[in-house]
Amino acid sequence: MKSIRRQIAEEVCKVFAAHGLDESYAKVSVSNRPDLCDYQCNGAMAAAKVLHKAPIAIAEEIVASLADCPLLEEAEAVKPGFINLTVAKDLLVSSLEKMDHEEQLGYEKTSAPKTVIMDYGGPNVAKPLHVGHLRAAIIGESLKRIWRFVGENVISDIHLGDWGLQMGLIVTELAGRQPDLVYFDEDYTGEYPKEAPFTISELEEIYPTASAKSKEDKDYYSRALAATKEMQDGRRGYQALLSHIMNVSVTDLKKNYDRLSVSFDLWKGEADAAEYIPGMVEQMKADGFAYVSEGALVVDVAEEGDTKEIPPCMILKSDGAALYDTTDLATLVWRERDYHPDSVIYVVDKRQEMHFVQVFRCAKKTGIVPQETELYFLGFGTMNGKDGKPFKTREGGVMRLSELISDINDKMYEKIIENQTMTEEEARQTAEIVGLAAIKYGDLSNQPSKDYVFDVDRFTSFEGNTGPYILYSIVRIGSILRKYHEAGGDETAYAIRTPENDSERDLMLQTVRFSEAIDGAYREYAPNRLCAYIYELCNAFNHFYHETRILAIEDEEKKGSYVRLLSLVRDVLLTSIDLLGFSAPEKM
Ligand code: ARG
Repeated sequence: MKSIRRQIAEEVCKVFAAHGLDESYAKVSVSNRPDLCDYQCNGAMAAAKVLHKAPIAIAEEIVASLADCPLLEEAEAVKPGFINLTVAKDLLVSSLEKMDHEEQLGYEKTSAPKTVIMDYGGPNVAKPLHVGHLRAAIIGESLKRIWRFVGENVISDIHLGDWGLQMGLIVTELAGRQPDLVYFDEDYTGEYPKEAPFTISELEEIYPTASAKSKEDKDYYSRALAATKEMQDGRRGYQALLSHIMNVSVTDLKKNYDRLSVSFDLWKGEADAAEYIPGMVEQMKADGFAYVSEGALVVDVAEEGDTKEIPPCMILKSDGAALYDTTDLATLVWRERDYHPDSVIYVVDKRQEMHFVQVFRCAKKTGIVPQETELYFLGFGTMNGKDGKPFKTREGGVMRLSELISDINDKMYEKIIENQTMTEEEARQTAEIVGLAAIKYGDLSNQPSKDYVFDVDRFTSFEGNTGPYILYSIVRIGSILRKYHEAGGDETAYAIRTPENDSERDLMLQTVRFSEAIDGAYREYAPNRLCAYIYELCNAFNHFYHETRILAIEDEEKKGSYVRLLSLVRDVLLTSIDLLGFSAPEKM
Protein backbone atom coordinates (compact mmCIF):
# COMPACT_ATOMS: atom_id res chain seq x y z
CA MET A 1 0.00 0.00 0.00
CA LYS A 2 1.33 3.41 -0.90
CA SER A 3 1.29 5.92 1.93
CA ILE A 4 -1.61 8.35 1.70
CA ARG A 5 0.82 11.22 1.35
CA ARG A 6 2.31 9.51 -1.70
CA GLN A 7 -1.10 8.82 -3.20
CA ILE A 8 -2.17 12.41 -2.77
CA ALA A 9 1.18 13.72 -3.99
CA GLU A 10 0.80 11.71 -7.20
CA GLU A 11 -2.62 13.22 -7.86
CA VAL A 12 -1.32 16.72 -7.19
CA CYS A 13 1.59 16.02 -9.55
CA LYS A 14 -0.80 15.09 -12.33
CA VAL A 15 -2.77 18.29 -11.85
CA PHE A 16 0.37 20.44 -11.87
CA ALA A 17 1.49 18.72 -15.06
CA ALA A 18 -1.93 19.23 -16.67
CA HIS A 19 -1.52 22.93 -15.99
CA GLY A 20 1.84 22.91 -17.69
CA LEU A 21 3.69 23.27 -14.40
CA ASP A 22 6.78 21.34 -13.52
CA GLU A 23 6.12 18.40 -11.20
CA SER A 24 8.88 19.55 -8.90
CA TYR A 25 6.47 22.20 -7.63
CA ALA A 26 3.93 19.61 -6.60
CA LYS A 27 5.55 18.63 -3.31
CA VAL A 28 3.03 17.56 -0.69
CA SER A 29 4.02 17.66 2.96
CA VAL A 30 2.35 17.12 6.30
CA SER A 31 0.50 20.29 7.25
CA ASN A 32 2.10 22.55 9.80
CA ARG A 33 -1.41 23.78 10.62
CA PRO A 34 -3.18 20.53 11.51
CA ASP A 35 -6.12 22.61 12.72
CA LEU A 36 -6.71 23.67 9.10
CA CYS A 37 -5.77 20.69 6.96
CA ASP A 38 -3.87 17.38 6.88
CA TYR A 39 -1.39 18.06 4.08
CA GLN A 40 -0.23 21.09 2.21
CA CYS A 41 1.45 22.03 -1.04
CA ASN A 42 3.32 25.29 -1.35
CA GLY A 43 4.28 24.85 -5.01
CA ALA A 44 2.00 27.57 -6.33
CA MET A 45 4.17 30.16 -4.63
CA ALA A 46 7.39 28.83 -6.11
CA ALA A 47 5.80 28.50 -9.56
CA ALA A 48 4.43 32.06 -9.37
CA LYS A 49 7.93 33.51 -9.13
CA VAL A 50 8.94 31.82 -12.37
CA LEU A 51 5.70 32.49 -14.25
CA HIS A 52 5.29 36.04 -12.96
CA LYS A 53 1.73 35.26 -11.99
CA ALA A 54 -0.13 35.78 -8.73
CA PRO A 55 0.42 32.71 -6.51
CA ILE A 56 -3.19 32.65 -5.37
CA ALA A 57 -4.36 32.50 -9.00
CA ILE A 58 -2.24 29.39 -9.60
CA ALA A 59 -3.37 27.85 -6.32
CA GLU A 60 -7.00 28.42 -7.27
CA GLU A 61 -6.55 26.78 -10.66
CA ILE A 62 -4.94 23.73 -9.06
CA VAL A 63 -7.62 23.52 -6.41
CA ALA A 64 -10.39 23.70 -9.03
CA SER A 65 -8.86 20.72 -10.82
CA LEU A 66 -8.62 18.77 -7.57
CA ALA A 67 -12.31 19.28 -6.83
CA ASP A 68 -13.29 15.80 -7.98
CA CYS A 69 -10.29 13.96 -6.57
CA PRO A 70 -11.72 11.06 -4.57
CA LEU A 71 -8.74 11.06 -2.20
CA LEU A 72 -9.62 14.47 -0.86
CA GLU A 73 -12.46 15.79 1.16
CA GLU A 74 -11.36 19.30 0.42
CA ALA A 75 -8.70 21.27 -1.41
CA GLU A 76 -8.53 24.92 -0.58
CA ALA A 77 -6.48 27.82 -1.90
CA VAL A 78 -5.41 30.17 0.86
CA LYS A 79 -3.62 33.49 0.49
CA PRO A 80 -0.93 34.16 -0.44
CA GLY A 81 -0.90 30.87 -2.37
CA PHE A 82 -1.05 27.83 -0.07
CA ILE A 83 -2.92 24.75 -1.15
CA ASN A 84 -4.51 23.09 1.89
CA LEU A 85 -5.50 19.47 1.52
CA THR A 86 -7.88 17.48 3.68
CA VAL A 87 -7.99 13.70 3.33
CA ALA A 88 -11.32 12.07 2.39
CA LYS A 89 -12.82 9.99 5.18
CA ASP A 90 -13.29 7.10 2.76
CA LEU A 91 -9.57 7.07 2.08
CA LEU A 92 -8.89 6.83 5.81
CA VAL A 93 -11.27 3.91 6.19
CA SER A 94 -10.03 2.02 3.14
CA SER A 95 -6.40 2.57 4.17
CA LEU A 96 -7.11 1.21 7.64
CA GLU A 97 -8.75 -1.86 6.13
CA LYS A 98 -5.68 -2.42 3.97
CA MET A 99 -3.34 -1.99 6.91
CA ASP A 100 -5.31 -4.58 8.77
CA HIS A 101 -5.09 -7.13 5.98
CA GLU A 102 -1.72 -6.55 4.40
CA GLU A 103 1.58 -7.73 5.77
CA GLN A 104 3.65 -5.34 7.85
CA LEU A 105 0.61 -3.12 8.38
CA GLY A 106 0.59 -2.20 4.72
CA TYR A 107 4.23 -1.14 4.62
CA GLU A 108 5.66 -2.40 1.36
CA LYS A 109 9.18 -3.75 1.50
CA THR A 110 11.66 -2.38 -1.02
CA SER A 111 11.81 -4.28 -4.30
CA ALA A 112 15.56 -3.79 -4.60
CA PRO A 113 17.12 -4.72 -1.27
CA LYS A 114 20.62 -3.51 -0.61
CA THR A 115 23.28 -5.33 1.37
CA VAL A 116 24.11 -3.15 4.33
CA ILE A 117 26.70 -3.68 7.04
CA MET A 118 25.92 -1.83 10.25
CA ASP A 119 28.83 -1.27 12.54
CA TYR A 120 27.63 -0.32 15.99
CA GLY A 121 28.31 -1.17 19.58
CA GLY A 122 32.08 -0.93 19.44
CA PRO A 123 32.76 -1.91 23.06
CA ASN A 124 36.33 -2.36 24.13
CA VAL A 125 37.29 -5.74 25.41
CA ALA A 126 38.27 -5.94 29.08
CA LYS A 127 36.73 -2.59 29.85
CA PRO A 128 33.32 -2.55 31.47
CA LEU A 129 30.49 -1.26 29.29
CA HIS A 130 29.80 2.28 30.32
CA VAL A 131 27.19 4.83 29.37
CA GLY A 132 29.30 6.02 26.44
CA HIS A 133 28.50 2.74 24.72
CA LEU A 134 24.80 3.01 25.36
CA ARG A 135 23.93 5.29 22.47
CA ALA A 136 25.83 3.24 19.89
CA ALA A 137 23.94 0.14 20.96
CA ILE A 138 20.51 1.73 21.20
CA ILE A 139 20.61 3.75 17.99
CA GLY A 140 22.34 1.04 15.98
CA GLU A 141 19.92 -1.66 17.07
CA SER A 142 16.93 0.48 16.16
CA LEU A 143 18.33 1.39 12.75
CA LYS A 144 19.03 -2.27 12.05
CA ARG A 145 15.45 -3.18 12.84
CA ILE A 146 14.01 -0.29 10.78
CA TRP A 147 16.26 -1.13 7.82
CA ARG A 148 15.18 -4.74 7.93
CA PHE A 149 11.52 -3.75 8.12
CA VAL A 150 12.07 -1.68 4.98
CA GLY A 151 13.51 -4.82 3.40
CA GLU A 152 17.23 -4.14 3.34
CA ASN A 153 19.56 -7.03 3.92
CA VAL A 154 21.37 -5.91 7.06
CA ILE A 155 24.36 -7.58 8.67
CA SER A 156 25.25 -6.13 12.06
CA ASP A 157 28.81 -6.25 13.33
CA ILE A 158 29.84 -5.26 16.83
CA HIS A 159 33.42 -4.36 15.86
CA LEU A 160 35.03 -5.07 19.20
CA GLY A 161 37.92 -2.93 20.31
CA ASP A 162 40.28 -5.84 20.90
CA TRP A 163 43.51 -4.77 19.33
CA GLY A 164 44.96 -1.80 21.06
CA LEU A 165 47.16 -0.90 23.94
CA GLN A 166 44.57 -2.12 26.44
CA MET A 167 45.61 -5.69 25.67
CA GLY A 168 49.27 -4.87 26.23
CA LEU A 169 48.37 -3.15 29.50
CA ILE A 170 46.59 -6.20 30.83
CA VAL A 171 49.46 -8.48 29.86
CA THR A 172 51.95 -6.15 31.53
CA GLU A 173 49.93 -5.94 34.73
CA LEU A 174 49.47 -9.70 34.85
CA ALA A 175 53.16 -10.28 34.25
CA GLY A 176 53.87 -8.09 37.27
CA ARG A 177 51.38 -9.89 39.49
CA GLN A 178 51.91 -13.47 38.40
CA PRO A 179 55.27 -13.67 36.61
CA ASP A 180 55.32 -17.45 36.96
CA LEU A 181 52.33 -17.99 34.70
CA VAL A 182 53.27 -20.21 31.79
CA TYR A 183 52.11 -17.53 29.33
CA PHE A 184 55.20 -15.49 30.11
CA ASP A 185 57.68 -18.32 29.59
CA GLU A 186 59.12 -17.74 26.13
CA ASP A 187 60.58 -21.24 25.95
CA TYR A 188 57.29 -22.93 26.61
CA THR A 189 56.02 -24.90 23.63
CA GLY A 190 53.22 -26.96 25.13
CA GLU A 191 49.52 -26.31 25.26
CA TYR A 192 48.18 -23.48 27.38
CA PRO A 193 45.52 -24.02 30.08
CA LYS A 194 41.89 -23.88 28.99
CA GLU A 195 40.87 -21.96 32.08
CA ALA A 196 41.55 -18.21 32.10
CA PRO A 197 43.85 -16.99 34.90
CA PHE A 198 41.29 -14.32 35.86
CA THR A 199 37.53 -13.71 36.19
CA ILE A 200 35.58 -10.87 34.62
CA SER A 201 35.60 -8.88 37.88
CA GLU A 202 39.35 -9.31 38.15
CA LEU A 203 39.76 -8.29 34.53
CA GLU A 204 37.69 -5.19 35.10
CA GLU A 205 39.96 -4.29 38.00
CA ILE A 206 43.23 -5.17 36.23
CA TYR A 207 42.63 -2.90 33.28
CA PRO A 208 41.96 0.40 35.09
CA THR A 209 44.84 -0.30 37.47
CA ALA A 210 47.19 -0.90 34.55
CA SER A 211 45.89 2.12 32.71
CA ALA A 212 46.46 4.38 35.72
CA LYS A 213 49.98 3.01 36.24
CA SER A 214 50.90 3.56 32.60
CA LYS A 215 50.04 7.23 32.90
CA GLU A 216 52.38 7.74 35.84
CA ASP A 217 55.15 5.32 35.04
CA LYS A 218 56.96 5.82 31.72
CA ASP A 219 58.76 2.52 31.94
CA TYR A 220 55.52 0.65 32.58
CA TYR A 221 53.99 2.40 29.60
CA SER A 222 56.80 1.37 27.27
CA ARG A 223 56.58 -2.22 28.50
CA ALA A 224 52.88 -2.18 27.71
CA LEU A 225 53.59 -0.79 24.25
CA ALA A 226 56.18 -3.48 23.65
CA ALA A 227 53.78 -6.18 24.86
CA THR A 228 51.10 -4.87 22.49
CA LYS A 229 53.50 -5.04 19.58
CA GLU A 230 54.70 -8.53 20.53
CA MET A 231 51.15 -9.72 20.81
CA GLN A 232 50.32 -8.26 17.41
CA ASP A 233 53.40 -9.93 15.99
CA GLY A 234 52.10 -13.25 17.26
CA ARG A 235 54.00 -14.12 20.45
CA ARG A 236 52.34 -17.38 21.50
CA GLY A 237 51.86 -16.86 25.22
CA TYR A 238 50.43 -13.41 24.67
CA GLN A 239 48.10 -14.68 21.98
CA ALA A 240 46.84 -17.31 24.40
CA LEU A 241 46.22 -14.64 27.02
CA LEU A 242 44.45 -12.59 24.39
CA SER A 243 42.01 -15.38 23.69
CA HIS A 244 41.33 -15.76 27.43
CA ILE A 245 40.68 -12.03 27.71
CA MET A 246 38.38 -12.28 24.70
CA ASN A 247 36.38 -15.25 25.99
CA VAL A 248 35.86 -13.87 29.45
CA SER A 249 35.00 -10.43 28.18
CA VAL A 250 32.72 -11.48 25.32
CA THR A 251 30.68 -13.73 27.61
CA ASP A 252 30.09 -10.76 29.86
CA LEU A 253 29.33 -8.40 26.97
CA LYS A 254 26.76 -10.79 25.58
CA LYS A 255 24.97 -10.79 28.92
CA ASN A 256 24.90 -7.01 28.97
CA TYR A 257 23.70 -6.61 25.39
CA ASP A 258 21.04 -9.26 25.98
CA ARG A 259 19.73 -7.21 28.82
CA LEU A 260 19.43 -4.29 26.41
CA SER A 261 17.75 -6.43 23.69
CA VAL A 262 20.65 -5.64 21.42
CA SER A 263 22.14 -8.35 19.23
CA PHE A 264 24.75 -8.73 16.53
CA ASP A 265 25.16 -11.08 13.59
CA LEU A 266 28.92 -10.80 13.69
CA TRP A 267 31.15 -10.56 16.73
CA LYS A 268 34.21 -9.51 14.78
CA GLY A 269 36.77 -7.15 16.15
CA GLU A 270 39.73 -5.05 15.22
CA ALA A 271 41.95 -8.08 15.72
CA ASP A 272 40.13 -9.92 12.93
CA ALA A 273 41.44 -7.32 10.55
CA ALA A 274 45.04 -8.03 11.46
CA GLU A 275 45.66 -10.71 8.86
CA TYR A 276 44.65 -8.30 6.09
CA ILE A 277 46.98 -5.53 7.15
CA PRO A 278 50.26 -6.67 5.53
CA GLY A 279 48.66 -7.30 2.12
CA MET A 280 46.75 -4.07 2.25
CA VAL A 281 49.84 -2.09 3.17
CA GLU A 282 51.91 -3.68 0.41
CA GLN A 283 49.24 -2.83 -2.13
CA MET A 284 49.03 0.77 -0.95
CA LYS A 285 52.77 1.08 -1.32
CA ALA A 286 52.88 -0.63 -4.70
CA ASP A 287 50.15 1.63 -6.04
CA GLY A 288 52.02 4.67 -4.82
CA PHE A 289 49.39 5.80 -2.34
CA ALA A 290 51.29 5.16 0.87
CA TYR A 291 54.56 6.94 1.63
CA VAL A 292 56.77 7.50 4.64
CA SER A 293 56.41 10.82 6.39
CA GLU A 294 58.36 11.55 9.58
CA GLY A 295 58.89 7.84 10.02
CA ALA A 296 55.23 6.88 9.75
CA LEU A 297 53.51 5.37 6.73
CA VAL A 298 50.66 7.62 5.58
CA VAL A 299 48.18 8.16 2.74
CA ASP A 300 47.16 11.69 1.82
CA VAL A 301 43.42 12.18 1.84
CA ALA A 302 43.09 15.95 1.62
CA GLU A 303 40.98 17.03 -1.34
CA GLU A 304 40.65 20.21 -3.29
CA GLY A 305 37.90 22.33 -1.88
CA ASP A 306 38.32 21.12 1.70
CA THR A 307 37.35 23.92 4.02
CA LYS A 308 39.40 22.54 6.88
CA GLU A 309 42.61 20.60 7.09
CA ILE A 310 42.15 16.87 6.66
CA PRO A 311 45.37 15.25 7.93
CA PRO A 312 46.76 12.18 6.16
CA CYS A 313 45.49 8.74 7.09
CA MET A 314 47.98 7.03 9.40
CA ILE A 315 48.67 3.50 8.22
CA LEU A 316 51.67 2.40 10.29
CA LYS A 317 53.52 4.05 13.15
CA SER A 318 57.29 4.43 12.91
CA ASP A 319 57.72 1.19 14.89
CA GLY A 320 55.51 -0.58 12.36
CA ALA A 321 52.49 -0.89 14.69
CA ALA A 322 49.00 -0.68 13.27
CA LEU A 323 46.63 2.08 14.32
CA TYR A 324 42.89 2.72 14.57
CA ASP A 325 42.82 3.90 10.92
CA THR A 326 44.60 0.73 9.87
CA THR A 327 42.21 -1.71 11.53
CA ASP A 328 39.16 0.11 10.17
CA LEU A 329 40.62 0.04 6.65
CA ALA A 330 41.61 -3.61 6.89
CA THR A 331 38.14 -4.40 8.23
CA LEU A 332 36.72 -2.95 5.02
CA VAL A 333 38.97 -5.36 3.12
CA TRP A 334 37.21 -8.44 4.52
CA ARG A 335 33.80 -6.79 4.51
CA GLU A 336 34.18 -6.11 0.80
CA ARG A 337 35.51 -9.59 0.10
CA ASP A 338 32.85 -11.46 2.10
CA TYR A 339 29.77 -9.30 1.62
CA HIS A 340 30.40 -6.78 -1.16
CA PRO A 341 28.06 -4.38 0.67
CA ASP A 342 26.18 -1.56 -1.05
CA SER A 343 26.63 0.43 2.08
CA VAL A 344 28.45 0.36 5.37
CA ILE A 345 26.94 2.43 8.15
CA TYR A 346 28.93 3.34 11.26
CA VAL A 347 27.05 4.40 14.38
CA VAL A 348 29.77 5.99 16.47
CA ASP A 349 30.34 9.00 18.74
CA LYS A 350 30.35 12.14 16.58
CA ARG A 351 33.71 13.15 18.03
CA GLN A 352 35.20 10.44 15.82
CA GLU A 353 34.02 12.10 12.64
CA MET A 354 37.48 13.09 11.42
CA HIS A 355 38.71 9.52 11.76
CA PHE A 356 35.90 8.32 9.52
CA VAL A 357 36.38 11.08 6.94
CA GLN A 358 40.00 9.93 6.66
CA VAL A 359 39.16 6.22 6.54
CA PHE A 360 36.37 6.65 3.97
CA ARG A 361 38.49 8.77 1.67
CA CYS A 362 41.45 6.44 1.99
CA ALA A 363 39.30 3.34 1.32
CA LYS A 364 37.92 4.86 -1.89
CA LYS A 365 41.19 6.37 -3.02
CA THR A 366 43.12 3.15 -2.63
CA GLY A 367 40.35 1.00 -4.09
CA ILE A 368 39.62 -1.04 -0.95
CA VAL A 369 35.95 -0.44 -1.70
CA PRO A 370 34.42 0.52 -5.06
CA GLN A 371 33.57 4.18 -5.67
CA GLU A 372 29.85 3.52 -5.57
CA THR A 373 29.85 1.91 -2.11
CA GLU A 374 28.13 4.14 0.37
CA LEU A 375 30.20 4.68 3.50
CA TYR A 376 28.05 6.50 6.00
CA PHE A 377 29.01 7.92 9.35
CA LEU A 378 26.12 8.42 11.74
CA GLY A 379 27.75 10.38 14.54
CA PHE A 380 25.82 10.64 17.76
CA GLY A 381 26.00 13.28 20.46
CA THR A 382 26.92 12.92 24.11
CA MET A 383 24.63 11.73 26.85
CA ASN A 384 24.88 14.40 29.52
CA GLY A 385 23.82 14.62 33.14
CA LYS A 386 21.50 17.35 34.41
CA ASP A 387 24.54 19.58 34.89
CA GLY A 388 25.10 19.54 31.13
CA LYS A 389 28.34 17.57 31.46
CA PRO A 390 28.89 13.96 30.34
CA PHE A 391 26.85 11.63 32.54
CA LYS A 392 28.68 10.50 35.67
CA THR A 393 27.96 8.55 38.84
CA ARG A 394 27.01 10.52 41.94
CA GLU A 395 30.63 10.18 43.03
CA GLY A 396 31.78 11.66 39.74
CA GLY A 397 33.09 8.44 38.19
CA VAL A 398 32.26 6.86 34.87
CA MET A 399 28.83 5.24 35.14
CA ARG A 400 28.72 1.56 34.35
CA LEU A 401 25.91 0.60 32.07
CA SER A 402 24.73 -2.16 34.40
CA GLU A 403 24.52 0.35 37.26
CA LEU A 404 22.49 2.76 35.19
CA ILE A 405 20.05 0.07 34.14
CA SER A 406 19.64 -1.14 37.71
CA ASP A 407 19.00 2.40 38.96
CA ILE A 408 16.25 2.96 36.40
CA ASN A 409 14.70 -0.44 37.10
CA ASP A 410 14.59 0.28 40.84
CA LYS A 411 12.88 3.56 40.17
CA MET A 412 10.32 1.92 37.90
CA TYR A 413 9.77 -0.84 40.42
CA GLU A 414 8.82 1.65 43.14
CA LYS A 415 6.31 3.33 40.86
CA ILE A 416 4.78 0.09 39.70
CA ILE A 417 4.46 -1.56 43.08
CA GLU A 418 2.83 1.64 44.34
CA ASN A 419 0.10 1.70 41.66
CA GLN A 420 -0.54 -1.92 40.91
CA THR A 421 -1.58 -4.99 42.70
CA MET A 422 1.15 -7.32 41.56
CA THR A 423 3.40 -9.83 43.19
CA GLU A 424 6.88 -8.61 43.84
CA GLU A 425 8.23 -10.82 41.10
CA GLU A 426 5.72 -9.58 38.54
CA ALA A 427 6.51 -6.01 39.48
CA ARG A 428 10.25 -6.68 39.06
CA GLN A 429 9.73 -8.14 35.62
CA THR A 430 7.45 -5.30 34.60
CA ALA A 431 9.94 -2.76 35.92
CA GLU A 432 12.62 -4.26 33.71
CA ILE A 433 10.47 -3.96 30.59
CA VAL A 434 9.34 -0.42 31.40
CA GLY A 435 12.83 0.60 32.53
CA LEU A 436 14.31 -0.43 29.21
CA ALA A 437 11.64 1.56 27.39
CA ALA A 438 12.42 4.58 29.57
CA ILE A 439 16.11 4.41 28.71
CA LYS A 440 15.74 3.65 25.03
CA TYR A 441 12.92 6.05 24.29
CA GLY A 442 14.67 8.78 26.30
CA ASP A 443 17.62 8.36 23.98
CA LEU A 444 15.93 7.65 20.66
CA SER A 445 13.42 10.47 20.88
CA ASN A 446 16.34 12.86 20.34
CA GLN A 447 17.96 13.45 17.00
CA PRO A 448 21.03 11.16 17.08
CA SER A 449 23.54 13.92 16.36
CA LYS A 450 22.36 16.06 19.28
CA ASP A 451 23.69 15.88 22.83
CA TYR A 452 20.94 15.19 25.31
CA VAL A 453 20.33 15.25 29.03
CA PHE A 454 19.70 11.90 30.66
CA ASP A 455 17.06 12.92 33.16
CA VAL A 456 15.99 9.90 35.19
CA ASP A 457 12.92 11.61 36.68
CA ARG A 458 11.64 12.76 33.33
CA PHE A 459 12.42 9.51 31.48
CA THR A 460 10.59 7.37 34.03
CA SER A 461 7.49 9.58 34.16
CA PHE A 462 4.22 8.09 32.94
CA GLU A 463 3.29 11.45 31.46
CA GLY A 464 4.76 13.45 28.63
CA ASN A 465 6.97 12.34 25.77
CA THR A 466 8.41 9.27 27.48
CA GLY A 467 8.74 5.53 26.98
CA PRO A 468 6.51 4.70 29.98
CA TYR A 469 3.76 6.97 28.56
CA ILE A 470 3.87 5.05 25.27
CA LEU A 471 3.72 1.71 27.10
CA TYR A 472 0.94 2.98 29.33
CA SER A 473 -1.15 3.81 26.25
CA ILE A 474 -0.52 0.36 24.81
CA VAL A 475 -1.51 -1.29 28.07
CA ARG A 476 -4.65 0.82 28.24
CA ILE A 477 -5.71 -0.28 24.75
CA GLY A 478 -4.89 -3.86 25.66
CA SER A 479 -7.19 -3.70 28.61
CA ILE A 480 -10.07 -2.34 26.48
CA LEU A 481 -9.58 -5.19 24.02
CA ARG A 482 -9.43 -7.74 26.80
CA LYS A 483 -12.67 -6.50 28.36
CA TYR A 484 -14.39 -6.53 24.97
CA HIS A 485 -13.29 -10.10 24.29
CA GLU A 486 -14.18 -11.25 27.80
CA ALA A 487 -17.70 -9.96 27.20
CA GLY A 488 -17.84 -12.17 24.11
CA GLY A 489 -17.10 -9.48 21.53
CA ASP A 490 -15.45 -10.30 18.19
CA GLU A 491 -14.42 -7.16 16.38
CA THR A 492 -13.34 -9.01 13.25
CA ALA A 493 -17.01 -9.41 12.40
CA TYR A 494 -17.39 -5.66 11.90
CA ALA A 495 -16.26 -3.15 9.33
CA ILE A 496 -14.37 0.00 10.23
CA ARG A 497 -16.89 2.79 9.82
CA THR A 498 -16.62 6.37 8.67
CA PRO A 499 -15.39 8.56 11.53
CA GLU A 500 -18.07 10.62 13.21
CA ASN A 501 -16.12 13.20 15.10
CA ASP A 502 -12.76 14.94 15.14
CA SER A 503 -11.03 12.81 17.73
CA GLU A 504 -11.96 9.61 15.91
CA ARG A 505 -10.93 11.04 12.57
CA ASP A 506 -7.65 12.27 13.99
CA LEU A 507 -6.87 8.87 15.47
CA MET A 508 -7.54 7.28 12.08
CA LEU A 509 -5.34 9.80 10.30
CA GLN A 510 -2.46 9.27 12.72
CA THR A 511 -2.79 5.52 12.36
CA VAL A 512 -2.58 5.52 8.58
CA ARG A 513 0.52 7.70 8.76
CA PHE A 514 2.53 4.71 9.96
CA SER A 515 4.17 4.11 6.56
CA GLU A 516 5.17 7.75 6.27
CA ALA A 517 6.80 7.58 9.68
CA ILE A 518 8.79 4.49 8.73
CA ASP A 519 9.88 6.11 5.48
CA GLY A 520 10.99 9.22 7.33
CA ALA A 521 12.93 7.30 9.96
CA TYR A 522 14.59 5.21 7.28
CA ARG A 523 15.47 7.98 4.84
CA GLU A 524 16.86 10.29 7.52
CA TYR A 525 18.56 7.66 9.70
CA ALA A 526 16.26 8.98 12.40
CA PRO A 527 14.54 6.72 14.92
CA ASN A 528 13.44 10.01 16.52
CA ARG A 529 10.99 10.36 13.62
CA LEU A 530 9.34 7.12 14.64
CA CYS A 531 9.28 8.25 18.29
CA ALA A 532 7.61 11.53 17.35
CA TYR A 533 5.06 9.59 15.35
CA ILE A 534 4.08 7.17 18.11
CA TYR A 535 3.93 10.02 20.60
CA GLU A 536 1.36 11.77 18.41
CA LEU A 537 -0.49 8.54 17.87
CA CYS A 538 -0.69 7.96 21.64
CA ASN A 539 -1.91 11.52 22.14
CA ALA A 540 -4.58 10.99 19.49
CA PHE A 541 -5.58 7.74 21.17
CA ASN A 542 -5.78 9.25 24.66
CA HIS A 543 -7.78 12.18 23.36
CA PHE A 544 -10.20 9.81 21.66
CA TYR A 545 -10.35 7.64 24.78
CA HIS A 546 -11.31 10.54 27.01
CA GLU A 547 -13.95 11.83 24.59
CA THR A 548 -15.58 8.58 23.61
CA ARG A 549 -17.68 5.99 25.32
CA ILE A 550 -16.21 2.90 23.76
CA LEU A 551 -17.41 -0.30 25.42
CA ALA A 552 -20.44 1.35 27.01
CA ILE A 553 -22.27 2.13 23.78
CA GLU A 554 -25.22 0.05 22.58
CA ASP A 555 -24.56 0.15 18.85
CA GLU A 556 -22.63 -3.12 18.35
CA GLU A 557 -21.45 -2.15 14.87
CA LYS A 558 -20.03 1.12 16.05
CA LYS A 559 -18.46 -0.60 19.03
CA GLY A 560 -16.96 -3.25 16.77
CA SER A 561 -15.59 -0.54 14.51
CA TYR A 562 -14.00 1.25 17.47
CA VAL A 563 -12.41 -1.91 18.73
CA ARG A 564 -11.01 -2.73 15.31
CA LEU A 565 -9.50 0.72 15.10
CA LEU A 566 -8.01 0.39 18.58
CA SER A 567 -6.62 -3.01 17.86
CA LEU A 568 -4.93 -1.62 14.79
CA VAL A 569 -3.53 1.30 16.80
CA ARG A 570 -2.12 -1.23 19.22
CA ASP A 571 -0.52 -3.24 16.40
CA VAL A 572 1.04 -0.08 15.01
CA LEU A 573 2.40 0.85 18.44
CA LEU A 574 3.72 -2.65 19.16
CA THR A 575 5.39 -2.84 15.76
CA SER A 576 6.91 0.60 16.23
CA ILE A 577 8.33 -0.06 19.68
CA ASP A 578 9.78 -3.31 18.42
CA LEU A 579 11.56 -1.28 15.73
CA LEU A 580 12.83 1.01 18.47
CA GLY A 581 14.09 -2.04 20.35
CA PHE A 582 11.78 -2.46 23.33
CA SER A 583 8.53 -4.17 24.24
CA ALA A 584 5.40 -3.65 26.33
CA PRO A 585 4.20 -5.43 29.46
CA GLU A 586 0.68 -6.84 29.92
CA LYS A 587 -0.10 -4.42 32.72
CA MET A 588 1.67 -1.62 34.49
N1 ARG B 1 35.87 0.85 20.06
C1 ARG B 1 35.68 2.19 19.60
C2 ARG B 1 35.56 3.13 20.79
O1 ARG B 1 35.21 2.74 21.89
C3 ARG B 1 34.45 2.36 18.73
C4 ARG B 1 34.45 1.55 17.45
C5 ARG B 1 33.59 2.14 16.40
N2 ARG B 1 33.61 1.42 15.13
C6 ARG B 1 34.57 1.45 14.26
N3 ARG B 1 34.49 0.73 13.17
N4 ARG B 1 35.65 2.18 14.44
O2 ARG B 1 35.81 4.32 20.60
